[in-house]
Amino acid sequence: MKEIGIALLGLGNVGLGTYRILADHARDIERRLGARVRVRHILVRDSGRARPEDVPAALITRDIAPILADPEVSVVVEVMGGLSPAREFLEKAIASGRHVVTANKALLTAHGEALFSQALARGVDLHFEGAVCGGIPIIRTLREALASDRVSSIHGIVNGTTNFILSAMADEGSTYEDALARAQKLGYAEADPTLDVNGMDAAQKLCLLASLAFAARVSPKDVHVEGITSLRPVDITLGREAGYVLKLLAIARRLPEGLDVRVHPAFIPGASPLADVRGAFNAVLLQSAALGASLFSGLGAGSLPTGSAVVSDIIDICRNLLAGVSGRLPMLSAPYVQEVPQIPSDER
Ligand code: NDP
Ligand code: HSE
Repeated sequence: MKEIGIALLGLGNVGLGTYRILADHARDIERRLGARVRVRHILVRDSGRARPEDVPAALITRDIAPILADPEVSVVVEVMGGLSPAREFLEKAIASGRHVVTANKALLTAHGEALFSQALARGVDLHFEGAVCGGIPIIRTLREALASDRVSSIHGIVNGTTNFILSAMADEGSTYEDALARAQKLGYAEADPTLDVNGMDAAQKLCLLASLAFAARVSPKDVHVEGITSLRPVDITLGREAGYVLKLLAIARRLPEGLDVRVHPAFIPGASPLADVRGAFNAVLLQSAALGASLFSGLGAGSLPTGSAVVSDIIDICRNLLAGVSGRLPMLSAPYVQEVPQIPSDER
């Protein structure tokens, strides 16, 4: 059976989930592809650290050079996080003709346009389903299923950590600190959880969603961002007494005067479909001209949910490789995204 070699850059929460899905679902993946996906290398920062028993020690390395020198590696999967060296590693992988997958929304919002341009020029694929809302296939939905439609608004709960914290405070009377510590232990939080609680992770995800939905260039500097750090338990209690639930909402709307893109805590009516989204679940409510309202929900963070999204990208690329095509999908670079007027973040 034909084999497609891949390399994982990172074996943390998402890297391990990706490895385990590839291992546990290997038979199903083989049947679907008619080929085998083989992990040939796993890059980590600390190669001396004990790793789970189901990961062969021989795969682990802390050196990128042998990975890029291995002609059997066709796909490089970046699940290490951060801007550098993730950016440089992906650029080298693209320059050497490897297809790439990333779950790194921080990297994509900071350097995505350059990376997509490089991938386009080199004729390789760059996929990123795991970067937004963990296991919910929202990137594919906007990029493919709704390519026929005209999206007018996105309302989402797109950060699992803050939703976990707010749910635990509201439903269990947890303290903020205890709930954040649990979210970190469960593998939902970023390596630096400041990005979760200050709203920036949600803003990065919203930029990716809005760019796809509106074919627009949207960057975090255009987004009004407020996190959950100044909320108090009494805010949650008072809201509930009035029939509202406090959530960190990510909102992007197409208005006559331009795009309105923002992230902030909001009281939402108890009857809203977003009110019942608890714990690490995420949900995205879209409004579009032809379909009307549509709701997408599921686990938005964590090892296996995000791993499943990453593996879905790997499978997509393998299908392309087997069919001898690439660069099949529109990317987040010109000419697929353009300047669209936006309401300045300080005028909202
Ligand atoms: P972790 O911190 O759990 O894992 C990071 C992994 O990358 C570790 O294995 C680490 O090595 C390795 N690594 C980090 N820096 C380097 C480096 N300089 N050189 C080599 N290896 C390195 O992160 P997560 O798995 O939680 O997140 C990974 C990415 O996925 C991030 O971009 C995050 O935003 C994104 N993401 C995370 C989700 C989640 O639920 N956690 C959901 C969706 C996306 P070592 O093991 O030796 O420390
Ligand atoms: N830290 C992120 C979250 C991981 O809590 O939603 C998923 O992108």
